[in-house]
Amino acid sequence: FAFTAANQQWAEAQITKYPEGRQASAVIPLLWRAQEQEGWLSRPAIESVADMLGMAYIRVLEVASFYFMFQLQPVGSVAHIQVCGTTSCMICGAEDLIAVCREKIAAKPHELSADGKLSWEEVECLGSCTNAPMAQIGKDYYEDLTTESFGKIIDDLAAGKVPTPGPQNGRYASEPLKGLS
Ligand code: FES
Repeated sequence: FAFTAANQQWAEAQITKYPEGRQASAVIPLLWRAQEQEGWLSRPAIESVADMLGMAYIRVLEVASFYFMFQLQPVGSVAHIQVCGTTSCMICGAEDLIAVCREKIAAKPHELSADGKLSWEEVECLGSCTNAPMAQIGKDYYEDLTTESFGKIIDDLAAGKVPTPGPQNGRYASEPLKGLS
């Protein structure tokens, strides 16, 4: 693994933001940029970040494996779908959404679909409990899902379309407050 020239320059700029001896503070932005470059974090990518920051590989792996936003194995070339399985979403139908993933993408989490375009996993609460059940796809949230609306989102992704994020039934948790300026 090697950062592209542009990413290398960007990464070095991040490191200089921190005082001498505190370069490890740049670990999350560097991991994020490595993942954006390759789609996921391979061992060589993590080693490269560790070398740049003067950290032990295991320390960087500890960070990368702690957050759901980091992927430690290859993901679908079009989308990796993260279905929230925590309490609110579970009560509102997360298990049914996971069944849709098993049927339409792959039997097991982190497996690639037959065409390599999609993958999925179950994750912990993503902070959108009011609009449960929900899933994160890329950087977007898809909320108030039903098996029908979620299945269509997956079909659209597989067909190269970009589904509209947000509450799929148009229900927003709160209206903007009026009279405040
Ligand atoms: Fe699913 Fe919080 S429980 S977003």
